[in-house]
Amino acid sequence: GKGQYDHYMLKEINEQADSLSNTLGGRITDDGDVSLEEFPQGTFNDVDHVEFIACGTSYHAALYGAQQLQRSGVRATATIASEYDTSTVTENTLTIAVTQSGETADTISALRAAQDAGAETVAVTNVVGSSAAREADHALYIRAGPEIGVAATKTFSSQVATLTLLAHRLSQDLEQGTAREDNEEFFSELEKLPEYINEVLATSTAEAVGEKYLDKESYFFIGRDNEYPVALEGALKFKEITYEHAEGFASGELKHGPLALVTPKSVVFSLFTGENGEKTRKNAEEAHTRGADIVAITDDAESVHEFADTVLHIPETHPDIAGLLANVQLQLVSYYTADMLDREIDKPRNLAKSVTVE
Ligand code: M6R
Repeated sequence: GKGQYDHYMLKEINEQADSLSNTLGGRITDDGDVSLEEFPQGTFNDVDHVEFIACGTSYHAALYGAQQLQRSGVRATATIASEYDTSTVTENTLTIAVTQSGETADTISALRAAQDAGAETVAVTNVVGSSAAREADHALYIRAGPEIGVAATKTFSSQVATLTLLAHRLSQDLEQGTAREDNEEFFSELEKLPEYINEVLATSTAEAVGEKYLDKESYFFIGRDNEYPVALEGALKFKEITYEHAEGFASGELKHGPLALVTPKSVVFSLFTGENGEKTRKNAEEAHTRGADIVAITDDAESVHEFADTVLHIPETHPDIAGLLANVQLQLVSYYTADMLDREIDKPRNLAKSVTVE
């Protein structure tokens, strides 16, 4: 049941320290290496490029995963499953289907197409025995536990954590792979992720932030690098459960069109969790100049005080982990906004937990 919570979504947001501990448990060795029992050393020796296929929130996790692989020297792409095309598939392709339920028709259909074209396949899923798990050559479980709310929350975090581990494993097997320079620091921070999540949950001011902007007309989310999938995810969650107009953009794209939408009736959630904050700062300032309110998600409130109307604070950590912490803040903003608007949070109109038609 929902226990002390009004909605499954809030319960599931609050479960994220535990679900992430499960996801990571036993998969990081004492000397900061990844050990995945599913994939003994050498499993992927023949692979020369990696493609992710997924829908919705899982697509955002896939994008995050593809970026991590690229950073360890591996050619990787992420494609929306319903847009998938097998033209570049060879027998050296590794196709990774990311699907919480393991039953999404668009993703299963792309997975089958990849197999028919000769790719080796992995399903990254939450559901043991699901179609994706059964049909792919390998299954890797995210171990997030059951998710009841239609809005994916804890499963996104566990997908990203799992893909981070998988990216590391792949970079060991693939010839192009290079170890990340900051390996040690990264894995020690990754192990602290559940702790950091609890800190965000205990101190978040997301409810007050949601209340402050309840009468806005548009909600924009911007970020670059791994903040970009988080911006897309922030906007998807917001539109899905509040029914308000929300869009996520790559920060740099704002000036290539979307800026025309920005007015004093807009609020721009701006992610400052990565290494390119100076650039995003300029983009946020442009929106601020057009009268929009800026909400900065950052570990350094001092650096944004000139243009940010409000700050959502996250603990200081590695940028690849900070993206997940920022996402939890955005989940909470969506949740509280939807609650104040009296929306049906766990079962938003027109949507289903698992989309079994193409
Ligand atoms: O079960 P899947 O991960 O394959 O589902 C994919 C999407 O339908 C799903 O993530 C959807 O976008 C969520 N409801 C968003 O919160």
